[in-house]
Amino acid sequence: MKSPVTVVGLGPMGATMAKTFLDDGRPVTVWNRTAAKAAPLVRDGATLAPTIAAAIAASELVVVSQTDYQAMYDSFGGADLEGRVIVNLSSGSPDELRRAGEWASKHGGELVTGGVMAPPPGIGQPGAYIFYSGPEAVIDRHREVLGVLGDVTYLGADLGLSMLYYQAELYLFWSTLTAYMHAVALLGSAGVSAQQFLPFAATTLRELTEDGPMGFLKQMAEEIDADVYPGDDNNLRMQAVGADHIVDAAREAGIDTAGPLALRDLFWRAVDAGHGADGLASVIKAIRAPAP
Ligand SMILES: NC(=O)c1ccc[n+]([C@@H]2O[C@H](COP(=O)([O-])OP(=O)(O)OC[C@H]3O[C@@H](n4cnc5c(N)ncnc54)[C@H](OP(=O)(O)O)[C@@H]3O)[C@@H](O)[C@H]2O)c1
Repeated sequence: MKSPVTVVGLGPMGATMAKTFLDDGRPVTVWNRTAAKAAPLVRDGATLAPTIAAAIAASELVVVSQTDYQAMYDSFGGADLEGRVIVNLSSGSPDELRRAGEWASKHGGELVTGGVMAPPPGIGQPGAYIFYSGPEAVIDRHREVLGVLGDVTYLGADLGLSMLYYQAELYLFWSTLTAYMHAVALLGSAGVSAQQFLPFAATTLRELTEDGPMGFLKQMAEEIDADVYPGDDNNLRMQAVGADHIVDAAREAGIDTAGPLALRDLFWRAVDAGHGADGLASVIKAIRAPAP
């Protein structure tokens, strides 16, 4: 028989995880603050634990998927975690995750943290992966069952790392797509549709990740790690002036200017700190030294 697993939290993500474990042929125990949400899973073969203590007792491995870490404290209270591995896949700040590790050991358990890199329909599907951090031996022991949800991407013992990677990815995702929406809104003020712009946006985003003159992702990684920012062909001052023009264009178009202004301010802070003749990657200096 495959090893059992308990799932705490039955929002869209936790419910999908519980169903994925069931489809893998595992005994699954579930617990949720709102017990009614367990009904479809119980119909599919899950056991609804009457209390959080019963849910914890049912399996060595307890997967948690809730809105935040406070929800775990609210749900678990002072429960005995002796011999239990709590794998919390909820969102939180890295320091919160580190504190949760202390909380788990105080109650006799071990904490593994994770950041889920897939929406619920992607769970258990090819391409899904989850960032994990925490005790490596514990993760290795449960690698097979965790692998049912998606590829196990282990980052290190620091419990905060999984969320740092998760948030780095989310920030990249949200800010890139928000910049795309700003671009669409800007063009929309002149009657250009999102679909007319699509081929141009797609080319830019694709080329950023490839080798070639627009392959800035790889180029910037090398420059940042070497702390060298050549600006011979397109220096930052020139680009900061260009960023001013984007703010002007947004104003003229009557669209939101907060994003373009933040970008412009960052560029000029780096220029004012002496990086005007350097390349774009020198903006990392302004990001690392926030304005007072
Ligand atoms: N959905 C996604 O695309 C996605 C992708 C990656 C990561 N995540 C992460 O996965 C986690 C779960 O997301 P979700 O989409 O399932 O929806 P969610 O709304 O973030 O989580 C809902 C779950 O949290 C529980 N909950 C919230 N506050 C609680 C509290 N104080 N005490 C007890 N339980 C509490 C809810 O219980 P009730 O049912 O009783 O309200 C429900 O089980 C989040 O941290 C999210 O950031 C989600």
